[in-house]
Amino acid sequence: MNHGAIAIMASGRGSNLKVILAAAKAGSCPVDTRLVISDKATAAALQTARDEGVAQVLHINPKDYADRASFDAACGDAIEQAGCHWIVLAGYMRILSAEFVQRFAGRIINIHPALLPAFPGADGAGDALNYGVKVSGCTVHLVDEVLDGGPILAQAVVPVLDDDTRDSLHARIQSAEHTLYPETLRRMVEDGFHIEGRRVIWNQV
Ligand code: GRF
Repeated sequence: MNHGAIAIMASGRGSNLKVILAAAKAGSCPVDTRLVISDKATAAALQTARDEGVAQVLHINPKDYADRASFDAACGDAIEQAGCHWIVLAGYMRILSAEFVQRFAGRIINIHPALLPAFPGADGAGDALNYGVKVSGCTVHLVDEVLDGGPILAQAVVPVLDDDTRDSLHARIQSAEHTLYPETLRRMVEDGFHIEGRRVIWNQV
């Protein structure tokens, strides 16, 4: 299996997907995005993937499946058929079934707009702002059965400013994401890591 072969799953705007494709094209991120899947037909991420010439771009509609497990199984089959090693979640807004997480154990990664373990869940930026923290950021982590709970691969910090709104804070976090996600993918493919307890230890190369 080619360890640079990835599938990206996205539900929305797709700005992270866009920077990953751009970094790969520029040669700074050695991934081959073979497949993009969205659960939302209208996701801008799908159009971006098509515009950028990704080989396979799929809308898989959850409404066509009886339950989460069978929907996830269809996504998993497409990912396996495309020969993808990593599954990169980039604004994918569905909770993955335990079956899917086990099937691809240790090979699913996610980016979250807060410094985990603080502020897991659907609105990391808004929750951080409302709590009143003075710094927040983003976290790239492995996905396990606990929502936003897997081992942490990388984090970046941004300030929270007095006049921030949820959107201005999220925009600042997103610019940090756009550097952190491709760079973390590069390290995963080029350097590799192992896990001790909950700690991700990067290989020294
Ligand atoms: C990002 O902020 C990411 O942290 C979260 O969803 C957002 C996706 O943004 N999981 P985009 O669709 O990549 O622009």
